Amino acid sequence: MTAELLNGRDLSDQLKAEMKQEVDVLKQENIHPHLTVILVGDDPASKSYVKGKEKACAVTGISSDLIELPGSVSEQELLNVIDEQNNAEHVHGILVQLPLPDHIDEQKVIHAISPLKDVDGFHPINIGKLVNGEDTFLPCTPFGIQTMLESKNIEIEGKHAVIIGRSNIVGKPMGLLLLQKNATVTYCHSRTENLREIALEADILVVAMGRKHAIDGSYVKEGAVVIDVGINRQENGKLTGDVEFESAKEKASYITPVPRGVGPMTITMLLKNTIKAAKGLAKK
Ligand code: GUN
Repeated sequence: MTAELLNGRDLSDQLKAEMKQEVDVLKQENIHPHLTVILVGDDPASKSYVKGKEKACAVTGISSDLIELPGSVSEQELLNVIDEQNNAEHVHGILVQLPLPDHIDEQKVIHAISPLKDVDGFHPINIGKLVNGEDTFLPCTPFGIQTMLESKNIEIEGKHAVIIGRSNIVGKPMGLLLLQKNATVTYCHSRTENLREIALEADILVVAMGRKHAIDGSYVKEGAVVIDVGINRQENGKLTGDVEFESAKEKASYITPVPRGVGPMTITMLLKNTIKAAKGLAKK
């Protein structure tokens, strides 16, 4: 079997065009969705992600501000900036780009963002709602993956989903979302024994390890859906995933490429969440 590509860029373009129309209608109702992005320090990868987020906002007519703070900023100064944004009426979404410098407590920062403006879906209140199956801001990468699966009518109910990686941003919420859709979910991580045997049982294999080409075709069951969340820069400057694409695609029924797979969908779901925040806050 040679897999069909799950092209996140094409789907993103389609969704952004739909969102632009929605934003135009909201503006007629005097709702102007606005996202504030806060970037601490000058990590090149974070800078590049943030640039992508601003560009995507502009394409859909969502206004955005970028607040750049030096890597030496104190935790309290950052908390003060978040507080200002929480209280700014024109701001609907707040995103603090992660990771943060070591002297800043990431959880404290996430707790400080108003849950109503938490378009990343990282605040414990929003994570709690996700656990309960309540309506909330879904974390953008898992939300994007779910949207990709739905776009191809890929069956989730009753299927065995194996998630490799247990980060708060991707792995943990991904499992919760798939469980909500009635998948049987197994979490694997760096201490998992017999990883290959477990991965080979997956109907849906989500790989979010942060390790270049850690998973090849020998981990993929014939006909499985393979989702590669990895973004690794190679010596030649090009991006590649956690999955060794060439061998995995020979086994999979569907597979996401890197780039143009999960990455663009993550940004697109941030826009969706910002629109949701704007509508929610407008009702208050
Ligand atoms: N760093 C890597 N991914 C993300 C994300 O989805 N949101 C934020 N805020 N930071 C990130």
